[in-house]
Amino acid sequence: MTTTSAEDLLGLAAELDAHAPLAGTRDRFVLPEGIVYLDGNSLGALPKAVPPAVADVVEHQWGQRLIRSWNEVDWWGAQTRVGDAVGRLVGAAPGQVVVTDSTSVNLFKAIVGAARLRPGRSVLLTDPDSFPTDLFMAQAAARMAGLEVRLATPAESAGAIRALGPSLAVAAYSQVDYRTGEKWDLAALTEAAHGVGALACWDLCHSAGAMVVDLDASGADLAVGCGYKYLNGGPGAPAYLYVAARHLGDFDQPLTGWQGHARPFAMETTYEPAPGITRARVGTPPLLSLLGLEAALTAYDGVTAEQLRAQSLSLTGTFLEALGALGVDLPPATPRQEERRGSQVSLRHPEAFAVVQALIARGVIGDFREPDIVRLGFAPLYVTHVDAVTAATALRDVLAGRKHERDEFRSRGAVT
Ligand SMILES: Cc1ncc(COP(=O)(O)O)c(C=O)c1O
Repeated sequence: MTTTSAEDLLGLAAELDAHAPLAGTRDRFVLPEGIVYLDGNSLGALPKAVPPAVADVVEHQWGQRLIRSWNEVDWWGAQTRVGDAVGRLVGAAPGQVVVTDSTSVNLFKAIVGAARLRPGRSVLLTDPDSFPTDLFMAQAAARMAGLEVRLATPAESAGAIRALGPSLAVAAYSQVDYRTGEKWDLAALTEAAHGVGALACWDLCHSAGAMVVDLDASGADLAVGCGYKYLNGGPGAPAYLYVAARHLGDFDQPLTGWQGHARPFAMETTYEPAPGITRARVGTPPLLSLLGLEAALTAYDGVTAEQLRAQSLSLTGTFLEALGALGVDLPPATPRQEERRGSQVSLRHPEAFAVVQALIARGVIGDFREPDIVRLGFAPLYVTHVDAVTAATALRDVLAGRKHERDEFRSRGAVT
């Protein structure tokens, strides 16, 4: 795009939308009129398949069939069944993913389990810029497993891994940085960890459902992620845990609840893990949310990870180009190179919070992250190129008119 007129940019964007391979998937979502939704990396939009599915669970499965539904519609097997559906989006063959608990809890289970797979090693390496829960859970898991936590950014990790050598038990990283949107090389970091005999554990919260994630092909050992961002499972949707098949027999996770037992209904008093990924279950899952997530994942039917990645890069690329063409020169925190870009664009502004509020007032919903990040997520199933240009134009108008300086955009709610 070389033009600076917003109208011309919108025309080009409409053409891109008309020819996009994923043009039809937006119709699978309920999206409010007049809203450009760029926060699917925080809470995904509502897939149309979810309300009737949840209504059926509530009214029929629960309301009419009552406890019989555990067997009749296999509530019991839902965690691993939905796990396999998530597995299709993250390059995991069946039998390695379970949907359960929260990302935080799964990270704790994964890291302690990883440490127990590498006895005699003393260090857990992780990213100082991780989402806070990842750091907190790494510290908690390290305390339980008797590991020392060392910090190195993904950019520094190869050197840190080499220096740690055989003392490293596990390297725990996010594939995409939640704040900057930088995408890290999952396969290379995994290989570096394996080079010293350690394991690699990945947080996929900001990558699964928006790009190619090749867990099996990259040799990843463990991974976690949430159900409510790009997977569109709804607020509080359960999370997932991946354990590579080669580790499952020895995967000794610390939260030994009854649903991970080999014979849960034998009511034994000594814990014996179930075979396979079932051992990563803990207690009774939130079935309304879990089955809502199962329905939500049908929005991905017929869509390949390569198509998601192509659409995502096209959207973020269009947005960045539109900013340039419209003369918006906020420094991006997200790398411009495609191979280093996740599915969001983060821009720095000293009054980023107020800028986000002013955008929301114009119907462009993104979010703010400390200290100075305007964060805009481009969910490839339902964001359009026209949305990307509309958002760039709204940002130009906010900044040019200094709209963010109004008092009304300075008050913060509990959630930013
Ligand atoms: C990278 C990352 N990990 C974890 C979480 C949240 O963890 P939980 O699902 O346990 O709340 C987030 C939430 O935004 C995140 O961005």
